[in-house]
Amino acid sequence: MIPKEIIEEIRYRCDIEDVIGSYVSLKRAGSNRNGLCPFHSEKTPSFTVFPATKSFYCFGCGAGGDVITFIQKMENLDYVGALEYLATRAGISIPNEPSVGGTPTVSRRRIYEMNLEAARFFRGALFDPEIGRDAMQYLVGERALSGATIKRFGLGFAPNDFNMLVNHMRRAGFTEQELIDGFLAKRSQHGSLFSLFRNRVMFPVIDTSGNIVAFGGRNMTDEKPKYLNSSDTPGFKKSRILFGLNYAKEYCAEEMILCEGYMDTIAMHAAGFGNAVATLGTAITPDHARLLARYTKRVIINYDSDEAGQRAADKAMKLLDEVGLPVRVLRLEGAKDADEYIKKFGADAFRALLGQSSTAFDFKMAQILAKYDVGQAEGKIRAARELTGLIATTYSGVERELYIDAVSKRLGISAESIANDVKRARARQAREVAQRESRELQMAARNFGDRVNPDAAKDPAAANAEDTLLGLMLLHAEHRAALANGSVALTVADFFTDFGKRAYTAILAAEQSEGGFDFSAMGEHFTPDEMGRFVKLREERAMLSANGIEVLTSAAATLVERRLAREAKAAGDWRYEIERRRALQAKKNNGSKK
Ligand code: GTP
Ligand code: MN
Repeated sequence: MIPKEIIEEIRYRCDIEDVIGSYVSLKRAGSNRNGLCPFHSEKTPSFTVFPATKSFYCFGCGAGGDVITFIQKMENLDYVGALEYLATRAGISIPNEPSVGGTPTVSRRRIYEMNLEAARFFRGALFDPEIGRDAMQYLVGERALSGATIKRFGLGFAPNDFNMLVNHMRRAGFTEQELIDGFLAKRSQHGSLFSLFRNRVMFPVIDTSGNIVAFGGRNMTDEKPKYLNSSDTPGFKKSRILFGLNYAKEYCAEEMILCEGYMDTIAMHAAGFGNAVATLGTAITPDHARLLARYTKRVIINYDSDEAGQRAADKAMKLLDEVGLPVRVLRLEGAKDADEYIKKFGADAFRALLGQSSTAFDFKMAQILAKYDVGQAEGKIRAARELTGLIATTYSGVERELYIDAVSKRLGISAESIANDVKRARARQAREVAQRESRELQMAARNFGDRVNPDAAKDPAAANAEDTLLGLMLLHAEHRAALANGSVALTVADFFTDFGKRAYTAILAAEQSEGGFDFSAMGEHFTPDEMGRFVKLREERAMLSANGIEVLTSAAATLVERRLAREAKAAGDWRYEIERRRALQAKKNNGSKK
């Protein structure tokens, strides 16, 4: 019932570390976080949060899943209940009527008219010496905005009142249903209508044709949720809108600055950087990336300097790379975002910083080179060692090659020997991860009785192959694609366990759906325990070094083989067994040749 975009937004806004951290005290463990499991009693921490995949897993009791699963278990809610709980925590409104996706009850045109009227009302309230006094004081004082900027961006104020806006809009001729569908009002349990935005500074979101498509509202106290944003309506899909693009489109032919916040965009425009835009409280989407590519040739990513911001920047780099946009990254020092930086150090300092923005790799390379005296053999060797380690962590082979080249030139060492070191470093890194985790895995295997997949014990070989397959499918899109398009042949009938059948069907269906596969959406159809199993299967695979198509093919072959064996056995056909052994022997002989 809840639209996929909103689920995405909830997951983005509810940082898993943050949410779990408010229940469990977490400690850093490499790139992950550890703590005492809240779902079973233990004295040594086996509960792990994986920020990179936004999931958690307890190696002790097998509990696992994503942030939604966690809240389901912790607050004893169903899937939708957990989503609502998290939405409230994050200031995201969920549509009462499923108008998104269904037939819209209000036309786009009507929504624009309604938003325009509401924006007039909000602006009137802000400029009202009495009603808007504190809000104006906040914007001009605390946020240091000029009157001209406030007007240019059409800022306003939603009074601290349940009825004022609703009454105003009714008088202007808008119906209750229109106000609800446009996210300006909601119906209370008693049936009366009330304004959604109250006591908030209002930021209209304007599209490139000049229509007001949505609002963001900020409270003035930093109380949570800090911002309330309208959800998608017939006139508005967040994944396709960039805040500030209505002005930035005039200044961005060469270069665009991409940031996270309303205030960052406004502050940059006010300081003379009119080519700044922001996503609206969501992660950047492929739609955003395509939109950017239509307007500009280069993007400077300017995300918050905290860890969450940097992780979001990684995702942005990847998506922009996919649409062929060259990307640079801005590092802010001494301030958490652009707004703060400009306020502290001024526009000229910010301009200088823009000039120094660098590719992520260049930035890290410069850091490493600065540490060593590369004029000396000793320093050169150490720098090379650290740089090859850095290159080894790069996922893309093409990028690795470019970096190997850069380092080779910079240090005057042959590309070939750097490449060799990178290869060795990659092998070492994979080994280390496997070793570190294998002990915990063994523990998991011993402790976890199989409630989730009770059929597994009846044919361990088949169940094992199923686990491998599902793990691979959860890990890599290519594997899902290979099964979806039939290049690896496997049908649901080949699966042995009921759990495996259901999981396979659901993952494939999601893969082939319009929006593509989304792990989180599985929570709608699987229990928290089952979600936990999925994370386990994926993480176990991730720890192994061989996850290629050959592993997928061989697991699929095992499943087919096991099914044929079952069928043959059911039919009392002893000849099949002989065939099977022959095939197995042939496979072994083949394997031992290389
Ligand atoms: P200021 O604190 O006013 O400077 O805002 P900011 O723009 O710097 O905010 P921040 O970096 O914290 O967040 C970036 C963007 O994420 C904001 O502009 C909002 O669009 C969105 N956002 C921030 N907090 C919330 C929240 O609590 N709920 C929702 N739905 N969105 C938020
Ligand atoms: Mn800010």
